[in-house]
Amino acid sequence: MNIPDIITLIAIMIVGGYLLQNRIFCQHQKLSDIVKGLPCRSWVFGNIIAFRTELDFGALLGWHDTYGAAYTVRGCLGETRLVISDPAAFKFFFQNPYKFSRPPLDTLSSDLINGSGAVFSEIGPSHRRLRGVMDLAFRKYASSFQEGTDAVIQQWIDQCQQNGRGEQGTINVQQALGKFALTESMHAVLGDTPESDSKKHTAQKMWIEYSSNILSELISKPTKRALIIERLAEALLPKTLLRIMLHLPEERLKRLHRFSKLNADFVNEIVVNYESKQLGCSAEDDSDTTTSPKNNGSSTSIFSAMVRINEGLSKSQNKLTLRQIASQVPSMLIAGQDTVGNSLSWALYELASHPDWQERVREEIIAHARFSGEAECPQAFFRNEGLDGLPCLNAHIKETLRFYPGVPMVNRITLEDVVFPLAEPILSADGKSKVTQILVQKGTRVHFNLAAYNKTRSIWGEDAGSFNPWRWLPTQRLSESEQGPVRVSTGLGPYANLSSFIGGARVCVGWRLSILLMQTFLTRCLAKFRFKLVENVGIRPIVTFTIFPALDNDEDSPSPSLPLGIEML
Ligand code: HEM
Repeated sequence: MNIPDIITLIAIMIVGGYLLQNRIFCQHQKLSDIVKGLPCRSWVFGNIIAFRTELDFGALLGWHDTYGAAYTVRGCLGETRLVISDPAAFKFFFQNPYKFSRPPLDTLSSDLINGSGAVFSEIGPSHRRLRGVMDLAFRKYASSFQEGTDAVIQQWIDQCQQNGRGEQGTINVQQALGKFALTESMHAVLGDTPESDSKKHTAQKMWIEYSSNILSELISKPTKRALIIERLAEALLPKTLLRIMLHLPEERLKRLHRFSKLNADFVNEIVVNYESKQLGCSAEDDSDTTTSPKNNGSSTSIFSAMVRINEGLSKSQNKLTLRQIASQVPSMLIAGQDTVGNSLSWALYELASHPDWQERVREEIIAHARFSGEAECPQAFFRNEGLDGLPCLNAHIKETLRFYPGVPMVNRITLEDVVFPLAEPILSADGKSKVTQILVQKGTRVHFNLAAYNKTRSIWGEDAGSFNPWRWLPTQRLSESEQGPVRVSTGLGPYANLSSFIGGARVCVGWRLSILLMQTFLTRCLAKFRFKLVENVGIRPIVTFTIFPALDNDEDSPSPSLPLGIEML
């Protein structure tokens, strides 16, 4: 521990000792008297080490199987947290998003990563105002993402040919997919990519370099010391002092600040580019349609659509400033990178794991391409309606997002006392009665376990714990053994009853874009390649803020990796 850390720690311990005892202990006794919890051996660390630093996908789902759709975990120094995956509680959360905020340190680091004023940190009316403009812009945007997909396909063909094995090879698909997700999100949000014009967009280019895996690296497993400091600081310090804490000389924090500076440059560049084009003072920018106010017709980018929608608002609707709009760009790009990249990786992994199913999806794509005359008019095939009309492809995407939700858990603190209703009552902590609702006091941390909700047996069937795309195709299944249709609709979330994009006012703004990206990538890719598992290479899911594939034998600090055998068709 370095000296500034020790000073901080001692100061907050002295100031807060008394408060801590009372505030934390009271809250803990009430919640854990009602709701069962993971066994806890240490008052100092609770079970938070297992929960935050040793968490694996199996444990996240296993605890749900053992304790049900609501259970408690102990944080540091007696804190009690609620982990919940009940459909009625989720509905309550989605309908009342502003009764919750992100935990203070998460909000402050998100401000550094995404830039201040980003949609992630806003709450109440200012969040609603931002989302009004963003949601409309995303709805108006339509693109096929064909070019980006074809670039990845070409890269994989070249790699196969370079390694001397002709029409097949082993390729680590993970890295290319993360980059694909980022460049395609950038294409959608800003209308071009840095590669399309090397002279401009210096900050954009640096941002891309630096942002790669930024969330996985920065919000990865905390140390024990960090957990204690985080707990004390959040319980006792006002936000201004927390902000100062983020300047402690620690390597991760330094990286966070460097990224934050780059973010600010990136946002400035977007504003300056836009303003200079508006004044018509830059002749060399004429070709760039990205942020041009001249595009009053169709939307060439989500950013330009946001600008136009905002301009169309009346004065009383409280318009956003150009900087407020530009400040949303980094968060949209960061939010889409690992989520879409990892979802595509898992989609390919599951296709490789189920060769017969892979053939079935491919046959459907090829038949549909022929039927819609793809050779003469590729655009016709790749219009949204075309892609939505492929049942097996879409079943695969739904099952991938169900099984590996891009964000497995969403974390919040209650801003007031709330009562979560439960659709499926749980047994009380003393085992004597049924609990149908849970009172949670203000200031309690709640982990919404999206991964566990997506495996609820009463919704997805008894085989909810298995990857089975047939559940989405009950009328097409081949035999009874392939059954497992979705049983009930909980009416949750924007897509397929899944919680993967959450729901309500904070629903993922990029959910339609993500589906379109996945549909486009998978259709084109499956028409070109057959994917196979690599012999003797085990893959396991690693949970950070997202779920990425890593090599089974990469135990100490697993990094994202997915080697797959690919064969050109
Ligand atoms: C498979 C892909 C994706 C998944 C599973 C996913 C999932 C989520 C989830 C669970 C949240 C809620 C997080 C929270 O409130 O703590 C969220 C929020 C958000 N997502 Fe996505 N996301 C995906 C792709 C994208 C893409 C492609 C974009 C943009 C291009 C995007 C932009 C956002 C933004 C801006 C928010 C914050 C919304 C708000 O707070 O109002 N996401 N996403």
